[in-house]
Amino acid sequence: MDDLRAKYLGAIAGARDEAALEELRVAAVGKKGEVSLAMRELGRMTPEERQTAGPKLNALKDEINSALAAKKAALGDAALDERLRTEWLDVTLPGRSRPQGSVHPVSQVTDEVTTIFADMGFAVAEGPQIESDWYNFDALNIPAEHPTRTEMDTFYMHRDPGDNRPPHVLRTHTSPVQIRAMQAQGAPIRVIAPGRVYRADYDQTHTPMFHQIEGLAIDRDISMANLKWCLEEFCRAFFEVDKVELRFRASHFPFTEPSAEVDLRCSWEGGQLKVGEGDDWMEILGSGMVHPSVLRAGEIDPEIWQGFAFGIGIDRLAMLKYGMPDLRAFFDSDLRWLRHYGFSALDVPSLRGGLSR
Ligand code: DAH
Repeated sequence: MDDLRAKYLGAIAGARDEAALEELRVAAVGKKGEVSLAMRELGRMTPEERQTAGPKLNALKDEINSALAAKKAALGDAALDERLRTEWLDVTLPGRSRPQGSVHPVSQVTDEVTTIFADMGFAVAEGPQIESDWYNFDALNIPAEHPTRTEMDTFYMHRDPGDNRPPHVLRTHTSPVQIRAMQAQGAPIRVIAPGRVYRADYDQTHTPMFHQIEGLAIDRDISMANLKWCLEEFCRAFFEVDKVELRFRASHFPFTEPSAEVDLRCSWEGGQLKVGEGDDWMEILGSGMVHPSVLRAGEIDPEIWQGFAFGIGIDRLAMLKYGMPDLRAFFDSDLRWLRHYGFSALDVPSLRGGLSR
């Protein structure tokens, strides 16, 4: 019995893992284990022998069981310690690496403008950048021979030789979205449509791809006064000044009647733009009352409905607000420019939190 005790207690103390421990348990106190077999021998002993051997065997069995339990707990603790050591984590390190990219000023300004008009109840509408010439021109009251078609420096898509259908175009403005939105939603309607537009033009203030935001509000009794209020509100919010002064200059667009180009009072003293003061005027958008032919193209009855529309150059607004002198740099993908003029991804514009940094 002493041999058994020495053998198993020693082995248990030296067991390396739970599997080894389990083997020892089976070998000692399992059904066919050495201690269990010895206990079975008790039946063949004389009563006197049994009286001394029985309690001793029971005590040995208890001793082995508690050694097993103690070792098992110790192994568990050691395993946990090991895990804690290897899975150690410095919780004082920043949880996320700093974002590398930045939000392009065009995206930021689009979000700013959208936020302002959303607050006035305008929903965002979209249309395709490859547009049929009907949506881009005819539906907007620009017939085939109209000079605007050439003035706009349109990019035409390819047609196979012999295919005499009019070619699709890269939309030259966001105005076709007016027609699509009217067809899809009917009247009354209040939408803005931000997006990319294309014209074959390239200099300091023109790139072949640029961005516009179109606005359209149709209802039973919308007037030019509503347009004026709306645009003044917009400028106040966008340029973050209390006082703005707009000048509505009579103009001509085929899709509006009457039409007005809108200038903003500003000063350029010391090369710094100040909105709402000074003696300069800067053109910022085109607008007007939607032409009845345009309403009809949008399947809206001009006898019942009327409204205003406007088109703003987003890149232009971004240049003005954030003082970027050359539009071409917008689309050069120069990381130095993007880091300098870009916005943090967490800088989401809101009317409450502030539109700009
Ligand atoms: N589509 C015009 C352009 O690209 C801008 C414009 C002018 C849009 C007057 C309008 C508008 O909706 O009413 O030059």
